[in-house]
Amino acid sequence: MSAKERILAEIRATGPIPFERFMELALYDRSGFFGGDHLRSEKGGDFLTSPEVSSLFGKTLAAFVEREMERIGEPFQLLEVGAGSGSLLTPLLETVDVDAWAIEISPAARSKLTGLLPGDRILSELPEQVRGVILANELLDNLPMAMAQLIGGGWRERWVGAEEGTLHFVDADPRPEILEWLEGYGGQVPEGGWVEVQLAAHTWLNDALSTLDAGSIVIIDYGDTAENLVPRRSDGTLRTYRAHHLGPHPLDEPGATDITADVNFSALIATAEAAGASVELHRQDDFLAELGLRDRLSQLRHAELEAAQSGDEMERLRLRSLKIEAETLLHPRGLGDFRVLVARV
Ligand SMILES: C[S@@+](CC[C@H](N)C(=O)[O-])C[C@H]1O[C@@H](n2cnc3c(N)ncnc32)[C@H](O)[C@@H]1O
Repeated sequence: MSAKERILAEIRATGPIPFERFMELALYDRSGFFGGDHLRSEKGGDFLTSPEVSSLFGKTLAAFVEREMERIGEPFQLLEVGAGSGSLLTPLLETVDVDAWAIEISPAARSKLTGLLPGDRILSELPEQVRGVILANELLDNLPMAMAQLIGGGWRERWVGAEEGTLHFVDADPRPEILEWLEGYGGQVPEGGWVEVQLAAHTWLNDALSTLDAGSIVIIDYGDTAENLVPRRSDGTLRTYRAHHLGPHPLDEPGATDITADVNFSALIATAEAAGASVELHRQDDFLAELGLRDRLSQLRHAELEAAQSGDEMERLRLRSLKIEAETLLHPRGLGDFRVLVARV
């Protein structure tokens, strides 16, 4: 059964479903976008993440892991949640000697990760206790979220219903927990504006913090504070990706597209602070620069020049491609504009 057939069957059985349930089925059901045999996060896949762009991402984050190892000492574990193809862990583990685990729910990603880690280091959920660093790159933007729209000055939820096999948004009374989240983090939304209500991200961070005895959680994703997201609220930030490009409307081809939205970092900061963590929010370019990526970039520029002067064309091309990758990670209007939340306990 395709993801769409599965969604239609559920709507036939129960009536319209909340958007987060639609997103869960569209992304994580057996025939969902992450549920099948396709590995989505790789160069030939549907989207290109920082670790897929460059091994320098994992190598640079290794410096953060080393600092945390110095800060909290042994025992120390590194966990990556939503580890995808292992493109972050691979260069990181070449750079720093640390006990590592991957948490993944996609069968295709789990299978790929067996080339990197022993089977008992590939988990489907966080263990009960962690001491070290928990990394999540482009995970929270994919967690199921509810959809709300401001109509006549009041909030309405947008659920998913069906008519003659076509999915469409259905008006619904907002649930109390949705209203509470909107009041805290919806921001100044214009009439008709859309907000993605990210309660699953809140639950994920709470759970991760409650497992962490000492160390830090690093969340890297697109998004911004509630205030800075206001200019994007007229249409909202919900969107799809397919084959590296923006895809069709999220209701049009469930299972065949990546459904995602900007992460509301104000809500995550509040969650982390309420759990007693100390919190920092950075831009990705600043975060990576502070960990040494800009220095590495100038070394690459010098080395490329030297290779050109010595006539070593192969080496010049290798260094040039590394340099371009580093620049991509730091691009102020691209990956450099991602946010990095560090929550320490
Ligand atoms: C956009 S991909 C990012 C992959 C990788 N972090 C990267 O940057 O290339 C999101 C990944 O998170 C995984 N994922 C989603 N929800 C998850 C959960 N609750 N626990 C573990 N993995 C999850 C998906 O299967 C998918 O592989």
